[in-house]
Amino acid sequence: MSRIRSPEPQDIAPRLLPWFSCNRRDLPWRHTRDPYRIWVAEVMLQQTQVERVIPFYQRFVKGFPTVADLAAAPLDEVLRHWAGLGYYARARSLHAACRALIGRNGGTVPGDYSEFVALPGVGAYTAGAVLSIAFGQRHPALDANARRVFARVFHRRGESLAARRRIERAGKAAVPVKRPGEYNQALMELGSLVCAPREPKCDVCCLADLCRACHLGVADSVPRPRRTRTRRSRAAMAIVRRRRRILIAQRPPEGVWGGLWEFPNVELADNGDPSAALRCVLRQEFGLDVEIGPELGRLTYGIMNRRIDLTVYGASVLGGRTRPRWHEAARWICPDHLNGYALPAPHARVAKLVSRTRSG
Ligand code: ADE
Repeated sequence: MSRIRSPEPQDIAPRLLPWFSCNRRDLPWRHTRDPYRIWVAEVMLQQTQVERVIPFYQRFVKGFPTVADLAAAPLDEVLRHWAGLGYYARARSLHAACRALIGRNGGTVPGDYSEFVALPGVGAYTAGAVLSIAFGQRHPALDANARRVFARVFHRRGESLAARRRIERAGKAAVPVKRPGEYNQALMELGSLVCAPREPKCDVCCLADLCRACHLGVADSVPRPRRTRTRRSRAAMAIVRRRRRILIAQRPPEGVWGGLWEFPNVELADNGDPSAALRCVLRQEFGLDVEIGPELGRLTYGIMNRRIDLTVYGASVLGGRTRPRWHEAARWICPDHLNGYALPAPHARVAKLVSRTRSG
């Protein structure tokens, strides 16, 4: 039986860089060295697939081409550009970080690691990615894809702190002095295109000769899949009409969908009656007495580890004065103006349904 020698971290870059030269995807943020634009891309790429990020990135840098432009924009407008991408805390932090930079350096993105990592929302991954790609500095950028490559090459199955520390040490040692930014992108690219979570393409992988999991034939099960249980629940939403307008409300700045606008809605208990629950929320949260009308549609969406089955109802106001309690604000708007507001993706789907219902 042949034994393979233990891989050395510095063996990775010489295999990875030539592979990347031939296989790199042509992505919009790879045409710039502007640290601000690379930063925007890296923030968007956290928790979001490359293909999905592209149109959002293009719209965002067109709307806010520099740190100064982003800092000068109201948060509402920034969230509107982010709407549909999810994880809105990323947008709020990026905005806050750019505002912080205006007071210092005149809005220049710092090339110093400790200064950059001290900004809101910037962690080791973002700082490593931006400083290596934009400034050519030797820092690792270990996103989930890169970590998986390391877990397989060094055959670290577990999720323990010790296993993670070992991957981090190897990750740091593997960054080459020359072309660290390309190396980091190559590693993430390999993780998303070849060393995929399921059915990795070991037969075409440039690291196959080094990879312990590949030699052992277990790449598919390394790292050990995390057990996540999806919880299913039901919710109801009301499109409340008063004359020709509908009611939307802005969520508080912190927390899930912070600062975004939504239609009044409520999560239902197991046997909860949607009409009663909506009437109750509209009375207690908005100060309105309403009559719940016909069902307008249904959709299912995911948030975190939950799947939510949502039913949308029409509603009309019987009385009361609009006074939101938990929400930041409530507005009665003409449905044609909905696209001027940042809505979470499922609410944007409902907005489309509303306009279809009106024109139908
Ligand atoms: N994932 C996150 N950032 C990336 C990048 N710069 N290239 C490829 N995949 C990535």
